Amino acid sequence: MIVGIIGSGGREHAICAKIKESAKISKIFCIPGNAGTSSIAENINIKINDFKSIKDFCIKNQIELLIVGPEQPLVDGIVDYFLDTKIKVFGPNKVASQLEGSKIFTKKICAEYKIPTANFKICENIDDAKKYLDNSNYPLVIKADGLAAGKGVYICKNYNEGLIAVIEIFGGKFGSTKNLLIEDFLEGEEMSYFVVSDGEKYKFIGTAQDHKRVGEGDKGKNTGGMGCYSPSRLNSPELAVKINSKIIDPTLKAIKDLGTTYKGFLYVGLMIKDNNPYLVEFNVRMGDPECQTILPLLKTDLIEIFVNCCLGKLNEKKIELKNEKSICIVLCSEGYPGEYKKNIPIKKLDNLFLKHKEYVFHAGTKLKNKEIVSSGGRVLNFVSISKDIKKSRGDLIKLINDLKWENGFFRKDIGYKVID
Ligand code: AMP
Ligand code: GLY
Repeated sequence: MIVGIIGSGGREHAICAKIKESAKISKIFCIPGNAGTSSIAENINIKINDFKSIKDFCIKNQIELLIVGPEQPLVDGIVDYFLDTKIKVFGPNKVASQLEGSKIFTKKICAEYKIPTANFKICENIDDAKKYLDNSNYPLVIKADGLAAGKGVYICKNYNEGLIAVIEIFGGKFGSTKNLLIEDFLEGEEMSYFVVSDGEKYKFIGTAQDHKRVGEGDKGKNTGGMGCYSPSRLNSPELAVKINSKIIDPTLKAIKDLGTTYKGFLYVGLMIKDNNPYLVEFNVRMGDPECQTILPLLKTDLIEIFVNCCLGKLNEKKIELKNEKSICIVLCSEGYPGEYKKNIPIKKLDNLFLKHKEYVFHAGTKLKNKEIVSSGGRVLNFVSISKDIKKSRGDLIKLINDLKWENGFFRKDIGYKVID
């Protein structure tokens, strides 16, 4: 089978590496990919928002299955754009992708279907928002409605911080916004829970705990994710039943009630308090770095999962995960999530000695004159699976130190809740 993958992050490199293990694969194209994917797939330099060029390329190169990694093309309707072709596209359609594309869309579903989540208020203008802020208890969480690449969420300790958030969001900091969302701050511990759906059925494909803050001890600015471990210490069969019945089942029913179905990965971002789940957010894709952390644990052929999902036949195959633990540490460019330099050579990558079940997935890297250089804030993902997560973490830190990449930094405490 000839397969295309859209995206250029660690998530897409991990997907590329996993599907390469399948006997069903004859060729992989990555659009646009990174230096890591170029050693497995052929990278194709087309912009991920250029649907016409992507479609023309897929048809010309007889791509049978197109896997969409990031949210933006899904929210923009790439699945719908391919409906007039025979190509199977893995991911939700435009209507269903609003679960990530509009936080207000999701909150309205939560209200109508009684899905547990933080209480919220939708504000249409600054005066509306000010009035609400005036009469509220703090902390409060203020969010821009649309996609904001992991930004656009303010945790506000008092009225003044709330006012700054409201002014920035309505001022267009995250693109034009008609509405914003103010919600209660949820106490508890976060967990990311993943399922894959074929429109009728869905199956569990793992949990993880991301470390979103840039600094050790979960301090400092929010990032796309500095590292993960899997499975999350919080999950249990009892909690999973609650997540499925209180959050996922009603959400998929809501999408059906809109006259369509949800196909693809569903990332359920949760706050767990007293063993009860509260929805923080949905993403309509795998997480990054959760994907890099979870896929090495997957025993089932990932290509079969993708194809069965597209065909509505997910039931035909059991999804099995290894009974091991995974940890991922993200090596970032100095300065991230603020300003950082690009095009810094990463010289020793080819000399690193990876043990069995250790992986390096590229994120912000590219080839420049045959040399690997950095091209983003999150640069490399170091992953190890084993029974002993503490030892894995030590081994990964040693690997990163062996790399001696002077432009990089990373958190040494990933997984501290289960290790330290
Ligand atoms: P979101 O983009 O909605 O996932 O928000 C980003 C991060 O902000 C989440 O991963 C949480 O850490 C935090 N967050 C969002 N909403 C809430 C909330 N209602 N209560 C507490 N923390 C939140
Ligand atoms: N790691 C968080 C995300 O993928 O949204």
